[in-house]
Amino acid sequence: MKHVVSISDLSKKQILSILKRAKELVPVAKGKKKSKSLDGKILATCFFEPSTRTRLSFETAMQRLGGTCIGFADPSATSHLKGETLVDGIRMVAGYADAVLLRHPQEGSARLASENSEVPLINGGDGAGQHPTQTLLDLFTINEEMGKMEGLNVGMLGDLRYGRTVHSLSHALAKFNNKLSFISPDSLSMPSYVTDDLSCEWSSHNSIEDVLNDLDILYVTRIQKERFPDLEEYKKVASAYIIDSDLLKNAKSSMRILHPLPRVTEISTDVDDTKHAAYFRQAFNGVPVRMALLEQLIGGKK
Ligand code: CP
Repeated sequence: MKHVVSISDLSKKQILSILKRAKELVPVAKGKKKSKSLDGKILATCFFEPSTRTRLSFETAMQRLGGTCIGFADPSATSHLKGETLVDGIRMVAGYADAVLLRHPQEGSARLASENSEVPLINGGDGAGQHPTQTLLDLFTINEEMGKMEGLNVGMLGDLRYGRTVHSLSHALAKFNNKLSFISPDSLSMPSYVTDDLSCEWSSHNSIEDVLNDLDILYVTRIQKERFPDLEEYKKVASAYIIDSDLLKNAKSSMRILHPLPRVTEISTDVDDTKHAAYFRQAFNGVPVRMALLEQLIGGKK
């Protein structure tokens, strides 16, 4: 494992190894145990798009393991504004750090950057492409909540066209023999370049009611307003789905709801206090999972 651009860059064995180590690191992630496994290591965080969870959980992961971060959250304060290309920028930043975390609005940008980075390049989200470290924490969360991550009925709801988290997660859940139900408006359905590669049973639906009572996991996504070329098209689907506690009366009591966050209106706040809501625990899980990934990428003693 050198770069992590797509979830397909990781074998099943590598994924399981990261999740196993993440479980051991939970006390360190919570500050209850100390570790210096990344002592002296530096992660460069290069964010050309907004982020709360990805950037801050990676920074926490580095600091809890004795490492440090450099980077930027606002590209307008960098030489990008003077016209510096992504390739030139990454080549240089790779010389300042032991690994580079990149978020960028263009699909394919992380692959291009990895081809020009001497140190491990981690894709923190490339446009509507992939978000592989989100997938690792999603798998970890599913395993924690359900006691397994195989043989489950998983529904993915919302913006399946532009939502990069569901593209990566579909590939991973297929590797682990789950059954997938894609629920979206027709205009936001899962792209064929994702479904063509799926080695598991899957189906598409417009209505959540069609599948809700069979689901073990409901993975909800935000409609990605910033990716629509036409705002009028966004307005037509902005409120396509709202999950509230009333709707959940038809769900299995063990069913868990995940969401990569941020949410807008797609999950009503009255769901937050139900047994179904797992999305805030999911957001925390980003810390131990990213710790485990960083240990495997940039080494150090445990
Ligand atoms: N889930 C996720 O990627 O969140 P951020 O956009 O806040 O990083």
